[in-house]
Amino acid sequence: MTLDTPADFLMAKEVLLSRSNAKWRQYEADVIPAFVADMDFAVAPAIRAAIRRSVDLDDYGYPMRDGQKADVAVAEAFARRMKRLYGWEAAAAQTLVLADLVQATFAAIMAFSEPGDGVIVQVPNYPPFRAAITETGRRLLPLPMRDEGDRYGFDLEALEAAMTPDVRIFLLCNPQNPTGRAFSEAELRAVLAFAEAHDLIVISDEIHSDLVHAPARHIPFASLGPAAAARTLTFNSATKSFNIPGLRTAVMHFGTPELKERFHHRFPARVMGSVNALGIDATVAAWDEGDAWLAAALSHLGAMRDHLAARLSAEMPAIRFHKPEATYLAWLDCSALGIEGSAFDFFHDRARLGFSPGENFEPGALSFVRLNFATSQEILDEILDRMLGALRGNIR
Ligand SMILES: Cc1ncc(COP(=O)(O)O)c(C=O)c1O
Repeated sequence: MTLDTPADFLMAKEVLLSRSNAKWRQYEADVIPAFVADMDFAVAPAIRAAIRRSVDLDDYGYPMRDGQKADVAVAEAFARRMKRLYGWEAAAAQTLVLADLVQATFAAIMAFSEPGDGVIVQVPNYPPFRAAITETGRRLLPLPMRDEGDRYGFDLEALEAAMTPDVRIFLLCNPQNPTGRAFSEAELRAVLAFAEAHDLIVISDEIHSDLVHAPARHIPFASLGPAAAARTLTFNSATKSFNIPGLRTAVMHFGTPELKERFHHRFPARVMGSVNALGIDATVAAWDEGDAWLAAALSHLGAMRDHLAARLSAEMPAIRFHKPEATYLAWLDCSALGIEGSAFDFFHDRARLGFSPGENFEPGALSFVRLNFATSQEILDEILDRMLGALRGNIR
């Protein structure tokens, strides 16, 4: 397989339907899914080859790589990648390899705060963030992502007014899901100054860091310098950008050995479990050998984003939308459409489309939906045609 054109990794609808992942299974067969963060793409050849090696050898024993516990290979690949892409020294020894970043969010909140303490989170946000705060008995302090006309931004002065001494954590999503913002150095430095002023731990979820569209660029929060690193936990994985979420492998990097010690004081490494061998090999292959595939995928995603923006503004201008700087997710504000009830239900019932409901990301955001455009132009056009049809009153 070459990787020169999207046709090389875009999967036909029949193939997508024959697989068993949630994206194409959750809804009824006539619904086009555009919700969960999975891409309709074949994986990078290096990932397929890495998995094939294990399959061909029936190599499913307790894994070792290069004479060490296999997890170390992921931590080292992460360190190599951060150094290569951002010049950031993300020490492998300060990296915990685990299966699941939602688990990491719950655990980090429980390790660095007490019940009743405050946790800042951008709103709208990835739904499990809200759960990780409220289900552990912490208090959610919202930092609204405000529509600033041409993009979403946040206002730390307004947040300042809401601060109390029991706020311990700033849960930052960079790039942000669902608004697709890739924060600038100035914005991140403002967050750092705020975190220093209030002595906060920063949990920086950077799972979408590979999916930033030029000219925007990703800046790892901990790479801002030693003062940032000293209070930062960085979460990342190859699962979003290389389309392998089912392989359940991720990293939690601690900016200093002390932060890691504090974490393990609450959660010994054994409690966090270990990861599977296929996920380890796939992640290392993605991070070390996946750049060509990623560049081709990003180029296709950028084209789909622009196509979506062009069609929305020409054909459905009442839907407000800022082109995401990162991710393959579009946060669509449908409030001017005058839909009664939720926009999700409207498009589900009338257009047979499976978006993510806005209210999952922000209570009450019924007039928003999140659209996943990581698909072929053919499927994206069918999604847009169906939206248009529903808005014109053609009930499918
Ligand atoms: C911001 C963010 N964090 C974490 C995750 C999921 O992480 P995991 O599958 O490792 O639990 C997602 C998935 O979409 C996400 O968008």
